[in-house]
Amino acid sequence: MWTSNGRPDHLIGRAKRSLKTLGVEQIGLWQLHRIDPRVPRDDQFGAIRQVLDAGILRNAGLSEVSVEEIKATGKVFPVATVQNRYNLIDRGSDDVLEYCAANRIGFIPWYPLAEGCLTRPGGAVDRIAKAHDAHAGQVALAWLLQRSPVILPIPGTLRAAHLEENSVAAGLSLSSGEAAELGAAAGPLFCPGLAPGRNRPNLRALTRWGVLGGRG
Ligand SMILES: NC(=O)c1ccc[n+]([C@@H]2O[C@H](COP(=O)([O-])OP(=O)(O)OC[C@H]3O[C@@H](n4cnc5c(N)ncnc54)[C@H](OP(=O)(O)O)[C@@H]3O)[C@@H](O)[C@H]2O)c1
Repeated sequence: MWTSNGRPDHLIGRAKRSLKTLGVEQIGLWQLHRIDPRVPRDDQFGAIRQVLDAGILRNAGLSEVSVEEIKATGKVFPVATVQNRYNLIDRGSDDVLEYCAANRIGFIPWYPLAEGCLTRPGGAVDRIAKAHDAHAGQVALAWLLQRSPVILPIPGTLRAAHLEENSVAAGLSLSSGEAAELGAAAGPLFCPGLAPGRNRPNLRALTRWGVLGGRG
């Protein structure tokens, strides 16, 4: 279990430590995991600005942020990337993705394979996967890649076979009709148990569907 610590001295110390741990002269991309609500955000952004200016970081990004927070950060340092939870059934960050695309900011969707109920037999993902002789996860990743040119999904896996399978998604081309069908099918109407509002998936429901913890 991790906790947020956005104290400027901690952030600066962590960046320096990462540089040593990685054994590099400069870190290509470093992302603030969360804006710590207990520390003034400008102090956190200012600390990151310092490590950018010192050349320890080449680029810096954010995670789990709103458009307003990206704009506020942009006044202190250029935001290179945003890492928000986003996938076929979790579209709460659509506005952030649109903002990133319009402002040439990379969007890194974490939890990209939480396809949940859409992969049930007979569902849209399942049907389209069969038509491409592909796995449902590959379709979920291909949909993300086609969703926006600034998207770079980061599926997590401990298995080389899954890594290879997921890589193939980059070459899977969905027709515009298929992409639109997938986009339209996702959401609480089709997935009972999803939270309203930001359309976050219900984690208990995802566990029940076998999405959390892998699919074997
Ligand atoms: N910024 C943040 O706040 C934040 C929070 C959480 C995670 N992350 C990052 O996001 C990335 C991905 O997130 P995640 O791992 O939680 O979710 P995910 O990529 O949606 O799902 C990973 C799960 O899917 C399984 N999986 C992967 N490829 C598969 C395949 N081809 N077939 C069947 N199962 C497959 C994995 O099991 P196997 O190991 O068995 O393949 C694992 O259980 C990670 O790099 C993580 O560090 C970021």
